[in-house]
Amino acid sequence: MEYFDTHAHYDDNKYIEDREEVLERIFKAGVTRCINMGCDIESSQKAIEIANNHDFIYAAVGLHPEEIPQSEEEMWKTILQIKDLAVQNKKVVAIGEIGLDYYWNKENKELQKQAFIRQIELANELKLPVSIHTRDAIDDMISIIRNYKIENGGVLHCCPFNRELVKHGVDNGLYIGFGGTSTFKNSKNAKEIVNMVPDDRILIETDSPYLSPEPKRGTRNDSSNLQYIVEKLAEYKNMEPERMAKLTYENAKKLFKI
Ligand code: NI
Repeated sequence: MEYFDTHAHYDDNKYIEDREEVLERIFKAGVTRCINMGCDIESSQKAIEIANNHDFIYAAVGLHPEEIPQSEEEMWKTILQIKDLAVQNKKVVAIGEIGLDYYWNKENKELQKQAFIRQIELANELKLPVSIHTRDAIDDMISIIRNYKIENGGVLHCCPFNRELVKHGVDNGLYIGFGGTSTFKNSKNAKEIVNMVPDDRILIETDSPYLSPEPKRGTRNDSSNLQYIVEKLAEYKNMEPERMAKLTYENAKKLFKI
């Protein structure tokens, strides 16, 4: 089986000692496409560097809602730098990760919304898809995805199991990314939510090094754990894991155009 990990962070310091070994191992485990997300300038640059050194890795560049600078001026400057990185590097296939996160910071909601909207516009301008993070911001997220056209597609990454959000995401043409949380025993409505998503809109992801799926929960994650996510989604959708791996691979190729 071949797998496409649509969201990982191999630039993270948790791989500082064995990054090359891990990347070699996941490729051997059948992960033949993987997108490394950027969260700020430094990690976006690292994502590009890793992608340039490995054929099967691609990069996304973006300003994550947890990394919004204190001042508005600084924020616009950062987004301009993100644009330069996207324009200058061929292996950049998306703007991400971007979005809203009111769990860590409720004080800068307006700045978060502005950064998110500006980066949607940037993706439209550069004809790239987006990878969207949402945490504790369901209403504002729904309002933005309804009111701003995401022209080249996108994915609600690590989708919270929230009916309204998934419904609006699907209705507005977005893909839905499922990762480790879909295997957690406390994700009670996971089966229902997965079945709300049409087969041609499902993506898989690990968010490595975070959110390892069962039975690896609590350990450092890597893309070889996609097999557990595929098994669980296939069980929910009542299909063979091979078919789930194949359809999520095809969906990701279509969205990211690689
Ligand atoms: Ni992430």
